[in-house]
Amino acid sequence: MKRLIKNGVLVDAQGEYRQDLLIEDGVIRARAAAIEPDGETELIDASGCYVMPGGIDVHTHFNIDVGIARSCDDFFSGTRAAACGGTTTIIDHMGFGPAGCNLHHQLARYHDYAADQAVIDYGFHGVVQHVDDAILHEMACMVEAGVSSFKLYLTYQYKLGDTDVLRALTRLKEVGALTAVHPENDAAIAERRAALLAAGHTAPYYHALSRPLECEAEAIGRMINLARLAVDAPLYIVHLSNGLGLEYLKLARRQGQPVWVETCPQYLLLDEQCYYKENGVDYLLSPPLRSRREQDKLWVGIAAGDIDTVATDHCNFSHAQRMTLSGGDFSRCPNGLPGVENRMLLLFTHGVLGGRISPSRFVALTSANSARLFGLWPRKGNLQLGSDADLVLMDPRGETLIRHAALHDNGDYSPYEGMRCPGRIRLTLSRGEIVARDGEFLGRRGHGRFLARAPFDPALAPELQSPCSTVAG
Ligand code: URP
Ligand code: ZN
Ligand code: ZN
Repeated sequence: MKRLIKNGVLVDAQGEYRQDLLIEDGVIRARAAAIEPDGETELIDASGCYVMPGGIDVHTHFNIDVGIARSCDDFFSGTRAAACGGTTTIIDHMGFGPAGCNLHHQLARYHDYAADQAVIDYGFHGVVQHVDDAILHEMACMVEAGVSSFKLYLTYQYKLGDTDVLRALTRLKEVGALTAVHPENDAAIAERRAALLAAGHTAPYYHALSRPLECEAEAIGRMINLARLAVDAPLYIVHLSNGLGLEYLKLARRQGQPVWVETCPQYLLLDEQCYYKENGVDYLLSPPLRSRREQDKLWVGIAAGDIDTVATDHCNFSHAQRMTLSGGDFSRCPNGLPGVENRMLLLFTHGVLGGRISPSRFVALTSANSARLFGLWPRKGNLQLGSDADLVLMDPRGETLIRHAALHDNGDYSPYEGMRCPGRIRLTLSRGEIVARDGEFLGRRGHGRFLARAPFDPALAPELQSPCSTVAG
């Protein structure tokens, strides 16, 4: 089957090109100023649209069991929503398994969750919930099995102490894996939370007060230094929410330390005032939403090249689940926000159409940098000949009103409800197959394939110092 995309503007992380693009057998076969279709080629008119690599969302939690609840999106509904929002690859953070389980335990479980369900391609990040010689040994086999990044937690049930973090960082570097970290200071949070609860402060806003930005920034600084001590082990900070943490990262990067950072649309577009809403419980996530001032600092980092990726941390617990489980106490509510369907449009609207970033930088943030960091380059995240025809047609004309009723996840609300976004997502293709058109799902359960990702390669990773990055004064 051949498809020809005509009259659009192709965009990759390097530039924009007025070219047609021919897809054959699921890959990009040709690009040229004018390609004429033959009799068996389906024509797609992209007039007025940008033709970009499909989004790669490197931070989702589908079907995650957090002990008190299971998130309401599985690998079918989660990837269906992703596809409708212009995302063609997800890398899911595997959840914790039973105490003491090995790394392959969760991998086997997640293969079962996703196989025959996902509608777009997918991979998994490993999760390190304890460290011993057997786990360190097993890391090499995980990389061979296509899992070349692992997340460590500095808070939650299976938080790691410094010794274990150092051992994990050292070994993961050795086996060719990238260490991702959820950085929050567990002791400081526990202390504050206990004091707030003792004073009867259980409303959603107190969640934010229990984990101020210093808790996150301290843990970022600590991880940067531990990674340096682990002979510059490559490090990836997930879901950055504040400017102080970003300053620490910029300092390390200026010294050439291999650290990269992700933020999420919720930290760019929502703020702590949401906790005062009647449905404040719907915004409980960690790290929490911050002030408008922190948002502005993140936008500067996005524009300057100091932030490398925008992912969602999609972790969907319905309003109903949140209300039942929390019983009015923020500390009993499962954490996380949905958003996998909204990321591409939100960043396109507020970033590109808002005049903050170029279309090429949009591609870097939403797919190319992720492919480079997570072992998917050059198959994903670019428009080179031979790459998978994972594409999205972004239309700067028109407007999209975000309403949960029109989304494709299994939840019952959107944190972005009612937002009017200039721009529309016209078409999503996964390996040449049309999986969504104008907000309608057209894909197929089981079309998505597991991506055995290559080991981390520092030569492919995004540059640490962007030419437009400013030196802090
Ligand atoms: O609150 C959040 N972010 N939940 C998802 C799990 C995590 O910490 O990434
Ligand atoms: Zn996290
Ligand atoms: Zn997460």
